[in-house]
Amino acid sequence: MATKDSLSEGPRHVALIMDGNGRWAQARGRPRLFGHHAGAKRVKEIVRACKPLGVKYMTIFAFSTENWKRTQSEVSGLMSLFRQYIRKEARGLKAEGVRVRFIGDRVRLDEKLVKLMNELEEMTAENDVVNLTIAINYGGRDEVARATKRLARDVANGTLSPDDVDEETLPRYLDTHVLPDPDLVIRTSGEARISNFLLWQSAYAEYEFIDTLWPDFTEEEFTRIVGSFGGRKRRFGAVPA
Ligand code: FPP
Repeated sequence: MATKDSLSEGPRHVALIMDGNGRWAQARGRPRLFGHHAGAKRVKEIVRACKPLGVKYMTIFAFSTENWKRTQSEVSGLMSLFRQYIRKEARGLKAEGVRVRFIGDRVRLDEKLVKLMNELEEMTAENDVVNLTIAINYGGRDEVARATKRLARDVANGTLSPDDVDEETLPRYLDTHVLPDPDLVIRTSGEARISNFLLWQSAYAEYEFIDTLWPDFTEEEFTRIVGSFGGRKRRFGAVPA
């Protein structure tokens, strides 16, 4: 982990908001789902680039709690893409040493998809080359609300004292409790918003907003951004010595 107040090393955890699939497809006169399929193909290349760059954790935003507001055909197309993706990529991810985890509320997801997600998590549980976390039906506020509910239950049943609730306690109830906080958050497609992604966890992350649409995002661009992170001073709120 980067020492406070020092020139940081490369990011250990990179989070990605993969935006711009719809516009990429529309620019080609194709349906939005065509863009999502093109976007899914990019994921593999970027995950592969992590190991040589020393990026041990990568978290990607695949479907937000707000994305249910899209048309029914886009939502069901995305859900079907996630199922296809897991079926197609599971073996390769396992062979390449990628440990896959999912964050987000699984309650609203269809049973078949949840089964595939659970299986992929189990199947890659021994891996440790790269930790890929896929956020599906994920929202930062929803995550904090669900975490608070669990925490409140522990207070109610006496396993946690209200006096022990602090900045160290609450994140233990988040979906990301086993992950380090992201060092760098990249959002593609020219929008400078965080859109409810990893709200708690990104308190001290660096942000990089780039114009490239997600299906055009390449390993070269990823490598350049990760490389430029090394020169930034991160002070975590402290005053430099
Ligand atoms: C945002 O682009 C993208 C999404 C809501 C879906 C992200 C999904 C993928 C990249 C593919 C699947 C990923 C996996 C892990 C299989 P947008 O639709 O909001 O684009 P727009 O802003 O141009 O409309």
